[in-house]
Amino acid sequence: MNVQETMAAFDVEQIRSQFPALNQTVYGRQLVYFDNGATSQKPQIVIDAIDHYYSKDNSNIHRGVHYLSQLATQQYEDARGRIQKYINAPLSEEVLFTTGTTGGINLVAFSFGETLNEGDEIIISAMEHHSNIVPWQLLCERKKCVLKVIPINQKGELLLDAFDELLSPRTKMVAITHISNALGTINPIEEIIEKAHAVGAKVLIDGAQSVQHTTVDVQALNCDFYVFSGHKVFGPTGVGILYGKKELLDAMPPYQGGGDMIAKVTFEKTTYNELPHKFEAGTPNISGGIGLGKAIEFLEQLDMKAVQQYETELLNYAQAELLKIAGLQLIGTAAHKTSVVSFIVDGLHPFDVGTLLDKQGIAVRTGHHCTQPVMDFFKIPGTIRASFAFYNTKEEIDLFIKALKRSIEMLR
Ligand code: ALA
Repeated sequence: MNVQETMAAFDVEQIRSQFPALNQTVYGRQLVYFDNGATSQKPQIVIDAIDHYYSKDNSNIHRGVHYLSQLATQQYEDARGRIQKYINAPLSEEVLFTTGTTGGINLVAFSFGETLNEGDEIIISAMEHHSNIVPWQLLCERKKCVLKVIPINQKGELLLDAFDELLSPRTKMVAITHISNALGTINPIEEIIEKAHAVGAKVLIDGAQSVQHTTVDVQALNCDFYVFSGHKVFGPTGVGILYGKKELLDAMPPYQGGGDMIAKVTFEKTTYNELPHKFEAGTPNISGGIGLGKAIEFLEQLDMKAVQQYETELLNYAQAELLKIAGLQLIGTAAHKTSVVSFIVDGLHPFDVGTLLDKQGIAVRTGHHCTQPVMDFFKIPGTIRASFAFYNTKEEIDLFIKALKRSIEMLR
């Protein structure tokens, strides 16, 4: 199918109608929301579910014999089950609610990290978000482990030969992003997981930019841990998921102590609850979990192959139009990319361009995107990043390009 046919087959207007935030003006102009890499907008069923929880069902979970508590517990656990099925996790207790991708990575870095010893090695990549760098650095300081980094090339692709060189029997963890938030690169995680397992290492996949763009099957991937955020997959902020293999989670110590994570507490000794509760201390983000379940229900109704094809058309169209602009350079030109375009314009600061785009109703992110090492690699302070979701359109890209040209004229 060509661009027009794909766009016609994918009913974007029907999808857009379910996202109320898209239908508004800012500074008197129709909003063009291209900051989906930072956070996505929410469909009405997610908003309604949160509203309903607080209007009717608000109660604590796993603790009450009363009607509302049981109702809330049921909804929260149903959400867990729905998410389990969506990512094809074998068991619901392998699906832990967290505060988000950052929360999930910190949990693994701390708790799995407790099983590591001095001299053990952890491999990350040069395109990681700070949240998949700093927790491992903290672990390395604490346990005297060694952090190694897979380099990237000028297109923003991993150098897999270098990865082969870094792997050794000392490698205990490979923590790698599925899709780069700053560059859009889709990494060959299947190959990475296989190679890491061959030396006995475990693998954590940072899926913060993936679940909204592609189907994720944790059994097919055979990853050990997979993390993602609710708010980037059309759900609420402050909630996320950590999938982990049961035998690993069982062997790991708790991350935080508190209510719900215990089996028995005395002053002499405390024993811990079973999964998933062992890692879910304290009253969780109940409405967030229920809302995330609804977001996954929304995603279930979509044909993700069609979504991917549609988003690729948006990406190709945007990149082609951007490249017609004199002095514009794309940052991130990997052969396998998701619908993220990062770019710089000769002589202009990304912040100034982003500010002028904003005044014309176009929401993009500017800066280092929490990936300072990526910016250092390209020797730039930051980029302008437009990140598309399936509810964006070619017409919006036209508005963006027009506004960008105008911004460049004003700044030159
Ligand atoms: N990690 C988010 C982004 O890429 C916030 O914008």
